[in-house]
Amino acid sequence: MTAISVILRDGSLQNLTGEDGLSLMETIRDAGIDEMIALCGGCLSCATCHVIVDEDWFAATGELGVDENELLDSSDHRGPTSRLSCQIAISPALEGLRVTIAPED
Ligand code: FES
Repeated sequence: MTAISVILRDGSLQNLTGEDGLSLMETIRDAGIDEMIALCGGCLSCATCHVIVDEDWFAATGELGVDENELLDSSDHRGPTSRLSCQIAISPALEGLRVTIAPED
């Protein structure tokens, strides 16, 4: 299990533990955080699982794929450390990861 911190849209912080191998989106959803819509269920076709990764952690989340990059371009809230949380796999290397749920588009 890997500890991660998630900042919700109201600014509150939730500390979660994610099962290694699951996606960050699944971890957030399974914690009952319903502002993460994740409409497509992780099929990489909606961008409603958008998170802003803390700058210090961005490199550890891996490379963006071409499709992820294009989908993020559809968001008005894309920033330099934006990721789609369904494309981030929880692993021990992400122990302490901190992300913010992006504003709704
Ligand atoms: S859940 Fe749809 S792109 Fe991530």
